[in-house]
Amino acid sequence: ASDTLRFDGRVAIVTGAGGGLGRSYAILLAERGAKVLVNDLGGSLGGKGGSTRPAQAVVDEITAAGGTAAANFDSVEDGAKIVQAAVDLWGKVDILINNAGILRDVSFHKMSDADWEAVYRVHLRGTFAVTRAAWPLMREQGYGRVVMASSAAGLYGNFGQANYAAMKMAMVGLANTLAIEGARRNIAVNVVCPVASSRMTETVLPDELLSSLRADLVAPIVAYLCHESCADNGAVVECGGGWAGKLRRQRAKGVFFPAAQNPGAKGFEMEDVARAWKTICSYEDADYPETNQDVFGVIMEHVEAARASKL
Ligand code: NAI
Repeated sequence: ASDTLRFDGRVAIVTGAGGGLGRSYAILLAERGAKVLVNDLGGSLGGKGGSTRPAQAVVDEITAAGGTAAANFDSVEDGAKIVQAAVDLWGKVDILINNAGILRDVSFHKMSDADWEAVYRVHLRGTFAVTRAAWPLMREQGYGRVVMASSAAGLYGNFGQANYAAMKMAMVGLANTLAIEGARRNIAVNVVCPVASSRMTETVLPDELLSSLRADLVAPIVAYLCHESCADNGAVVECGGGWAGKLRRQRAKGVFFPAAQNPGAKGFEMEDVARAWKTICSYEDADYPETNQDVFGVIMEHVEAARASKL
């Protein structure tokens, strides 16, 4: 059909694409015409060891189906090498999916420095390293599509995943700012929080659920976020099993204590807060702030009204 969404002429990097979700992303992008750098160091779920086999197998699969792909085995911690590999082969980078990940699940009171550090280095430091290397290229060409693989564990917390949750939420913070900085150069940065069967989830999800949550049911959503026709920037999208929905923040109308602006006087006390707490937490008349300015704005509105009433 003429409305088919294609990636002809586009160069994509998918990190951690030797298996699971990343493999599905790489296969779909290649199927639609992108040249895909399949990055994966081929280590264990905990981030130990390495092998060229997983990434090479995905490349072979893509090539056999008539697509264009090449394997890269560097760690995302060496992001510049990964970007350089794509540039050496195809001269540019249009699409980056920061998907590589490991787990070191352990309850917080037993978490070692090493558990924290390993998860930090792959998820957050790795995402930073690859994205920073691709960023100037995207700015210069005036085009880019970046997707961050975050997680519900980050958005909501999850027992035993303090390290992972912290890094996954940090990736949302990174995306929020990159969405702002990249907008003028036509670089869109969005976040996906997927649910899918993979080696990451096969031990925590029941078998019958796993078969309903195939990784290729997430791929069309992530691939759409990578397409030039997707105008969203800074979105967070949850998806899995063939469902997808965008997330937003909600904020209570809140309470302003006018006495806080009385010149000189100690404006308001903890007890005032305690009395108002239910209202502070009420979502009646809530709004949906989208920018930093929406926070500053509501505060200044109250402060200025209080000042004006005292003139
Ligand atoms: P997976 O374990 O199959 O895929 C992760 C891949 O990243 C592996 O192939 C691994 O070798 C690779 N990798 C690990 N460290 C790397 C490094 N330093 N450099 C390059 N590659 C590296 O797991 P899955 O489920 O496909 O996960 C993909 C992403 O989606 C991860 O970031 C994960 O945290 C995220 N995610 C997955 C969910 C799920 O339900 N499967 C839920 C929420 C988030």
